[in-house]
Amino acid sequence: MHKYFAKTLFLGKNLEYLPECHSTNQEMLIRLKADGLKEGAIIYADFQTKGRGQRGNAWLSERGKNLLFSLYLTPRQLMARQAYLINIIAGLAVVDALGECGLSAELKWPNDVYVMDQKIAGILVETSIDGHQLENAIVGIGLNVNQGYYPLTGATSIKLHTGKDTDRLDLLEDLLVHLEKYYLKIKSGQLSGILAGYYRVMRWRGELHHFNDGHQEFEGEIIGVDDTGRLLIKTKELMRRFDVKEISFLY
Ligand code: BTN
Repeated sequence: MHKYFAKTLFLGKNLEYLPECHSTNQEMLIRLKADGLKEGAIIYADFQTKGRGQRGNAWLSERGKNLLFSLYLTPRQLMARQAYLINIIAGLAVVDALGECGLSAELKWPNDVYVMDQKIAGILVETSIDGHQLENAIVGIGLNVNQGYYPLTGATSIKLHTGKDTDRLDLLEDLLVHLEKYYLKIKSGQLSGILAGYYRVMRWRGELHHFNDGHQEFEGEIIGVDDTGRLLIKTKELMRRFDVKEISFLY
């Protein structure tokens, strides 16, 4: 499982493969604390025993079938409140890489990747802050590639759509090419293009849907995100803003 990524400028040049680990995000954090890391470093694994998902959930993945990796970035030109942009570009990169496999994917706010109403990838970005600036970001991505069966409904993989196996490292390289393209936009301050790209693939945007705010069900239209990444939903009466834990999507 070794490869040199020739198509990227600086992402993935330091590549570490682990047949098994608790969590690639955790491994990255351990290395960061121990010896420091170079921006663009990647750790990828065939299997995680304690794969971490959002909101304290586990991330489960069959051994040797999927992409499980973490990428180290130092987005120090971003303010702490702009950390959501890292989530967005990771999601956009996955959508672009899936597009090259012939799949049309959407991003369910904030950054779950869906193909035809089923989740195909999850992203967990863990950041550290220095004053008001972002210091480090560990971008963990789990993308379902060659797994042919899911015990839970609501999950899918590339293979379930294309019927064939995909080379995971080729896919990782493609994904990194896209991520680098978006990350360089962040580095050069071209943020509006990123948001426009996000809105093009944002699931349910511009449609009337039902949500729950923890107290009651309500109907509204997703407008986009505010400048800290909170979800904006327009109801009949007003514009409402939500953090991740404050809302669930119903139908
Ligand atoms: C989610 O809940 O949707 C986010 C899932 C993120 C999973 C990936 S797999 C690689 C990296 N290591 C982890 O422990 N989690 C992320």
